[in-house]
Amino acid sequence: MSGVHVSTTINGDPVEFVCQPGEVLLDVLRNRVGLTGAKEGCGTGDCGTCSVTVDGRLVCSCLVLGAEVEGRTVTTVEGMADGADLHPLQKKFIEHAALQCGICTPGFLVAAKALLDRNPDPSEEQIRYALAGNLCRCTGYDKIVRAVQAAAKDLAVDATKPAKPAPKKTTAGKSAKKTA
Ligand code: FES
Ligand code: FES
Repeated sequence: MSGVHVSTTINGDPVEFVCQPGEVLLDVLRNRVGLTGAKEGCGTGDCGTCSVTVDGRLVCSCLVLGAEVEGRTVTTVEGMADGADLHPLQKKFIEHAALQCGICTPGFLVAAKALLDRNPDPSEEQIRYALAGNLCRCTGYDKIVRAVQAAAKDLAVDATKPAKPAPKKTTAGKSAKKTA
């Protein structure tokens, strides 16, 4: 069977891959693109461990075909941190011990980020509702909810800080470096 050539954007980078017409996005990400953050728990859309966003919309990547992301923007858990600087949600999951085995954690992080992106100040009920499609079999949900609430507070504080000025680029600086 001939493959489907797909051009897409994943975590801000242009990515091309060839997949089979019936191959799901989860398998493409893990086996062809090398992004193993999204996990397979059920393969039927019931557990949320495979959560990613496509054009900002939360989806189960086990229910989306790889070919469907042609021309779209995919974000996975690998796209949350800024280099070595973890996303506030990732920091708060660690601080609140909101994980044990960790298999569900990438899905919870992606789903929680999708929530905070559209609703920066969710109530506890809204957090629980937004995460209802993500199952955890070992941590329990209270610590996860507390971590999301704490991350929302941190993000709200960050939003009030003035943006850092971009570093000045001068030709003088460049030549000084070259001659140093
Ligand atoms: S593996 Fe996709 S929802 Fe469970
Ligand atoms: S931390 Fe183990 S399933 Fe959630």
